[in-house]
Amino acid sequence: MELDKALDLIADVPDFPEPGVLFRDLSPLFADAGGFKAVTDALAATVDPDADLLAGVEARGFLLAAAVGYARGLGVALIRKPGKLPRVAGRVGYTLEYGTATVELPEGVVQPGQRVAVLDDVLATGGTVAATCKLLEDAKVQVTGVSVVMELGALGGRSVLEGRRVEALRVC
Ligand code: PRP
Ligand code: HPA
Repeated sequence: MELDKALDLIADVPDFPEPGVLFRDLSPLFADAGGFKAVTDALAATVDPDADLLAGVEARGFLLAAAVGYARGLGVALIRKPGKLPRVAGRVGYTLEYGTATVELPEGVVQPGQRVAVLDDVLATGGTVAATCKLLEDAKVQVTGVSVVMELGALGGRSVLEGRRVEALRVC
């Protein structure tokens, strides 16, 4: 499937998770074999050739990082929401478009000096990815870049990631 057609599978859902938010729902894209493959291949092409590892952000970032990791022969660091990990190496709190959140890094998944590419589905305010980059950099890891399926341009996520390489398959 062509990438544009794949990205057209993303559904716009008004007023979720709260009034006034237009939620981009990637569920139909993930469920479509051709669409998922097109997006995986396109994201895989954005990952720095020198990356040692991928970082996927819970929850939809896990799917993308797993698929891209398989395609590129790379492992995945699972960046998790609080209360899930038995051993936490670090945590960073941040503000979302709709609330507050925290990301955590598991013990024993990154080595200082490694080059890590960050993957997620949507870049909105940029809080999640910025917190993820800080979490990795606190662990002395080098972030090579950030790749997302969709960037919500009006929410300004790119500006909080200034100086970083940010690749989005579609900007809305
Ligand atoms: C969504 C999305 C990104 C983040 C983007 O995750 O998957 O991780 O928000 O928003 P931001 O750029 O404003 O930080 P969500 O927190 O809804 O979690 P989920 O994947 O567990 O549903
Ligand atoms: N879709 C998915 N995740 C999100 C969105 C969205 O529209 N906005 C912030 N995180």
